[in-house]
Amino acid sequence: MRREFIAGNWKMNTVTKEAAALAAAVVKAAEGVSHRVLIAPPYTALHAVLPVISGTNVELGAQNASCELAGAHTGEISVTMLADLGVTVVILGHSERRQIYFETDELINKKIHTVLAAGLEVIFCVGETLDEREAGRAVAVVEEQLKNGLVGVDASQLSRLTLAYEPVWAIGTGKTATPDDADEIHAAARKTVATMYNSELAENLVVQYGGSVKPDNVRELMAKPNIDGALVGGASLSADSFGPIVRFNS
Ligand code: PGA
Repeated sequence: MRREFIAGNWKMNTVTKEAAALAAAVVKAAEGVSHRVLIAPPYTALHAVLPVISGTNVELGAQNASCELAGAHTGEISVTMLADLGVTVVILGHSERRQIYFETDELINKKIHTVLAAGLEVIFCVGETLDEREAGRAVAVVEEQLKNGLVGVDASQLSRLTLAYEPVWAIGTGKTATPDDADEIHAAARKTVATMYNSELAENLVVQYGGSVKPDNVRELMAKPNIDGALVGGASLSADSFGPIVRFNS
C-alpha cells in the first residue's frame, strides 16, 4: 500500500517571519490527516520553520543539496548541514535546477547517492519540456532521466525515494497535464522501475505529480491509480490554497 504524499516547494520565497507563519498554517491544515505532508522552505528559513513543525505530522524538506559532504565548495549546502537543521527529505533534480542551473543527470545521480547515503529521503523530479512532448518523446525523456538518476542506487534504498513527475511546461504556467496524461507517464515510470529493479518495488514506489496543482484539480489528479501525491509550487505559498490541497481527501 502506497502512502499518499503532499509536498509544498516554496522555492525562493519567504523570509523567516513569513515562513514561520505559513508553516503554522500548514500544521493546522494537516491536523488529523493520515497521508504524508511536507514543506520545503528556502535554506535560510529552515531554522525558523523547524520549531513550528516539530512534534507535528508536517515534515521538513530542503529544495536541493550539494553532492559533496564538506570542504571548499563556496555557496553550497551539505546534507549534513541540512540534517542538522531537522531536514529529513531533499528535493533533487527539479527542472529549475536542471534548466536554469544546468544540473545534469550525472550530477543529480551523485546528489541522490549523497543524500541516500546520509540516511535522508529524496524526492527525485523528472519531466519533459514542451518541445519534447510535442515531438512525442515524453515517455522516453522521463525514462532516460529516471534510468540515469538511479544509476547505482540499491534496491534497499528505493523505499526512501519518492518520484515526482513534473512536466516542465506545466510548472508555474497554470497548464496542468490532464489526469490521464499524468497517469500514463506515472505508469510508464513504474514500468521502468520494474525493469530496473522488480515489480514489487515499482508497485510500492510513491509517484507525485507536480505542475500547477491547485485546490480545484488536486482531487481529480489524486483519484488516478498511479498518482500518489503532489509536489506543489505556487499554490503552496498560501494556506488558502495549500490547506485544501493538503486536505484533498476530507
Ligand atoms: P507549480 O510548481 O505548482 O507552481 O507549477 C510545481 C513545482 O515546481 O514543483
